[in-house]
Parts: sequence; structure tokens; C-alpha cells
Amino acid sequence: MSVLSVQDLKVHYRTDRGVAQAVRGASFEVPEGQVVGVVGESGCGKTTLARAIMGVMPKTASIAGGKLLFDGVDLVSLSPKDLAARRWRDIAFIPQSAMNSLDPVYRVGTQIAEILIERGGMDKASAKRRAVELFDMVGLDAGRLRDFPHQYSGGMRQRAAIAMALALEPKLVIADEPVTALDVIIQRQVLDTFKDLQSRLGLSVILITHDISVVAYASDRVVVMYAGEVIEAGATAEVLKRPFHPYTMGLYKAFPELHGDGGTLVPIEGTPPNLIHPPSACAFADRCPFVEQRCREVHPPLEPVESGSLAACLRSGEADRLRVLAGEASTWLR
Ligand SMILES: Nc1ncnc2c1ncn2[C@@H]1O[C@H](COP(=O)(O)OP(=O)(O)O)[C@@H](O)[C@H]1O
Ligand code: SF4
Ligand SMILES: [Mg+2]
Repeated sequence: MSVLSVQDLKVHYRTDRGVAQAVRGASFEVPEGQVVGVVGESGCGKTTLARAIMGVMPKTASIAGGKLLFDGVDLVSLSPKDLAARRWRDIAFIPQSAMNSLDPVYRVGTQIAEILIERGGMDKASAKRRAVELFDMVGLDAGRLRDFPHQYSGGMRQRAAIAMALALEPKLVIADEPVTALDVIIQRQVLDTFKDLQSRLGLSVILITHDISVVAYASDRVVVMYAGEVIEAGATAEVLKRPFHPYTMGLYKAFPELHGDGGTLVPIEGTPPNLIHPPSACAFADRCPFVEQRCREVHPPLEPVESGSLAACLRSGEADRLRVLAGEASTWLR
């Protein structure tokens, strides 16, 4: 059973230079009780996707097509008021910097209590008890509920943001780069806490990150995005072991600590296409070491491949051979 079904979602921004097509027909499922990692380089549309699901988009953004089926209801069709009523209660958000969800002028405990009282209908005493319980859950000392956000370290703030997101036991949690701002050791600790809570509470999660090692560590399924499109999706272990899309192969190569072969970090050269005039064929063509003429003419559909995953590459049938080539640094250096 899926908690959320994202179907052909399109999100546009109006800009001075034209309409930027930030999300271009993305589709994927979030199965109940699973963590879906959404991964891709900066600018590929991850935050736009998260904000569209949350129903909190800048004024210049609009949903240009598609559906977001949550519990059988299309979130796209809901009024801002109905969407707001679902926020925190059904779908909660953990941002990259907790400073975006914590207000600097109020004590952290007051902010958590406010959600519990105003959104959860609790009385003051129960809210207080629940706030203590939540702090325990995320590994924070309940005595720190009286502190202001600036008195916390970065790791503590992210833990508080997790506590806040879990306050009303939402069905779906969207975490947008929840550990990116933290140093590596703290990243691991916060991720461990989050993973532990996720499995204990059976939460469904969309974990957004540019870091494929975070996906490898913490997600059951993965959705790889490139230039506003989903280009590969499937069970995380399967996709990382046998990627079928050259971009996923390249991402993997760019994080040598993942495969532990001590290989060199090989960034994928070049930049993603301009989303105001996106290519109509394969968006990765200009950076792909395996590009052929047809890649510039035909749009590769996202379709099932041998492993049971989905991939959008015209040469996915040759993936076993391309994967070997992609494992060599020289393939990516031009
Ligand atoms: N408010 C905005 N106005 C115009 N374009 C935007 C805005 N926010 C994001 N974009 C563009 O949309 C694309 C996707 O951005 P974003 O969703 O933030 O990507 P990611 O989170 O993957 O880094 C980028 O090309 C970005 O420049
Ligand atoms: S369709 Fe062609 S250019 Fe696009 S990823 Fe596949 S091989 Fe590379
Ligand atoms: Mg982002």
C-alpha cells in the first residue's frame, strides 16, 4: 500500500527570463512504513517536489499538472486551507536548516507545545508531557525544552526539528537534506536516531538528499532525479548494486566511500540543462559518456528494466557493459 502516489507531477516557476520547469513529470510511490530516498544534484527539483507535496510553495510557483494522491485524496485539488489543516498532522516536514522550522524568538518547548495544542487539540498539561516524551525519543535532555534555538548546537536543532515533525504522529514525514548542514560524525548520529524512530513508529518517509551515501545508509527505496525528471527508481540495494542509468552510475562513482574501493572521487563534468528551455530528448545527453545521436532526438521513457527497477535510458539494455565502463575514472574525464 502506498501512502503517497506522485503521478506525473509538473511544477513551474515564473521568472523574469521565462517559465522554469523545475519538476517535469515526476512519478513515484511512497509505500507505507518505508523510507524513499530522493537523490540528485543541486537544482534537480528535490526541494520543489517537497514543497509541492507540503503545499507550501513560493507565489511564483504553480503545479502545472499531475496528481499527489495521499490517502486517496489528490492534494493538488485541495484549497490552501485544507492543505494547511493536514500539515504537521498528516504530513510533516524536516527542513535542511532547523532554523527554518524553529522560530528564534520562542523557546523550543513553547514551539512544540504550540503545535500540540493548536494542531493536536491537546491541553497544556498533556502538551507538556508529550514534549518531554518527544525530547526523550530524539535523544535530547528535556531540561533543554526551556532553551531558545540559538542555545542549541546544529545537531540538537535537527533533533528538535525531528521531534517537532513527529509531534502529531504524521503518516508521512518529508525530510529535505536533514543532515546536510551537520559535520559527518553528527550526521551519522542524527541519521541513526531518525532511522531508529522510523522503524519503531513505522513511519513513511521521503528523505531528500544530494548525497547518495545518505540514501545508501538510510533508505529502502530510491528515486534518482535529474533536471526535474525521475531517471531511475527502485529498491535502494538493487539500484546501487546494478544501476541502469548512466547518471546513477556516475553519482555512485562520485562517492567512492560508498563502495570502499578507495577509488578516486570522479565528479560528473558539466552542468544540468537550463530548465527554462529543457531538452525534449534525454536531459543527460550533454554530460553522458555513452551518448548517441538518438539520445538527442528521442525522450527516454521511465520503464522497467531487468532488475525490477525503473530507468529512463535508451541504452538500458546495454547496462551491464556500460556499468563496467562507468567504473573507470577515464570514462568520466574529458
Ligand atoms: N523560487 C524560485 N524561482 C525560480 N526558480 C526556482 C525557484 N526555486 C527553485 N528554482 C529553480 O528550480 C530548479 C529546482 O530547484 P530546487 O527544487 O531547489 O532543487 P534542489 O532542491 O534539487 O536543489 C532549479 O533550477 C532552481 O533554480
Ligand atoms: S539516453 Fe543516451 S544520453 Fe541519455 S543517459 Fe541513456 S545513453 Fe546517456
Ligand atoms: Mg534543495
